[in-house]
Amino acid sequence: MTQERRLYLRGGIPLEGDVQVHGGKNTALPILAAALLCDEPVRIENLPDISDVRLMLSLMEGLGAGIERESASVVVVDPTSLTSITPDPALCQRMRASYYLLGALLGKAGEGVIARPGGCAIGVRPIDQHIKGFRALGAQVKEQCGLLEARAAQLHGAEIFMDCVTVGGTINVMLAACRAEGNTMIYNAAKEPHIVDTANFLNAMGARIRGAGTDVIRVRGVSRLHGCSYAVIPDQIETGTLMIAAAATHGDVTLHGCIPTHMESLTAKLLELGARVDDYDDTIRVFAPGAHRAVSFKTQAYPGFPTDLQQPMSALLTTARGTSTIIETIYDARFHHLNEMQRMGAQVRIEGRTAVINGVIKLHGAPVAASDLRAGAALIIAGLMADGQTEIRNVHFIERGYENIDLHLRSLGADIHKA
Ligand code: EPU
Repeated sequence: MTQERRLYLRGGIPLEGDVQVHGGKNTALPILAAALLCDEPVRIENLPDISDVRLMLSLMEGLGAGIERESASVVVVDPTSLTSITPDPALCQRMRASYYLLGALLGKAGEGVIARPGGCAIGVRPIDQHIKGFRALGAQVKEQCGLLEARAAQLHGAEIFMDCVTVGGTINVMLAACRAEGNTMIYNAAKEPHIVDTANFLNAMGARIRGAGTDVIRVRGVSRLHGCSYAVIPDQIETGTLMIAAAATHGDVTLHGCIPTHMESLTAKLLELGARVDDYDDTIRVFAPGAHRAVSFKTQAYPGFPTDLQQPMSALLTTARGTSTIIETIYDARFHHLNEMQRMGAQVRIEGRTAVINGVIKLHGAPVAASDLRAGAALIIAGLMADGQTEIRNVHFIERGYENIDLHLRSLGADIHKA
């Protein structure tokens, strides 16, 4: 039996230096699925080399798509040879973003069958809005034996009002709608950078999408999509995690190849707690020589504070002076990392979707386990701050979304290794 890898950290070292941000996970995954909609091969650059991307590529290969890896970050997808409309159910259950294959297959082939998608255990994660959107476009959608089937002789444009702001739902409806007959309007659309990037990619293939990044998106259906070469935008959450790591360790880190405007809600909170943040065109410098003050925040859809950074940020706040209150409005179970950090001396009270953190002077290292991807990132931040050794189990969660985070942090001086 192979032993699961672990991360070992010794904290207390300020991170210093320069680091390059990778391509975005939550952008790469829908863009890869969207490539299936095309009628010609498509070249995608700046993909992060993470396990979720590898899983998406395996799912696509299983459908008959040609996948040629030019390098770890560049892939050519040939979607002209699809032979199946059913992505491997066992693989779908391992990743939530597999649901994008349903929107893409419905748009391309008029039918798709997926297993209910899995993903990190951070609370209830329905996909009723995706289904509502597909039905509005004219698809028959039914679920039996854990498989979700969507079929339409011809999709047609529709007016769809999303009942909640959903990243996945907005993108999935865009995917299905871009080859539908006529115009689709998506109201109450999500505005995350991933939506804009996916729409830009679809438009680069000849789709006609306007309004991505606002809460009303208009999709004019087209009959064919042509090949293109496209680079995925930098990862907003990796950028934020590294910014938080720099502040948490009282370091001085310059991040390159990132998009400062995507980071404004985090930057505002880092300034409020006493760190300095300097923005340049595609570079952010974070330095934090002094003590941190407690700050409070609520997670919200973009441009609010992202839920995916709540976990790393709350790890930092366990050693800020005073009491921080965090309200998690997106998911109902995204505080497992704080429970785990109590082993490291964190003082936390969790009541439903609210966490109250009383800052302590220092955390101490301990053996801990990641319960999901961003919980793992939070435990890394905690380990970087703590006295002594921290051992993190369930590293596979972290590998879903962070490319070589151990090497990245080591290049900034951290004492971290995987074994
Ligand atoms: N929701 C519904 N019905 C739906 C869809 C969503 O009620 O049909 C609810 C969800 O339960 C949740 C909220 O709406 O409470 C937002 O969910 P959303 O659909 O926006 O999330 P998602 O598309 O499933 C993506 C990211 C998540 C990130 C969220 C929010 C991917 C693959 N995942 O998930 O990323 O937390 O948007 O920004 O893009 C992560 O990277 O760690 C991660 C979990």
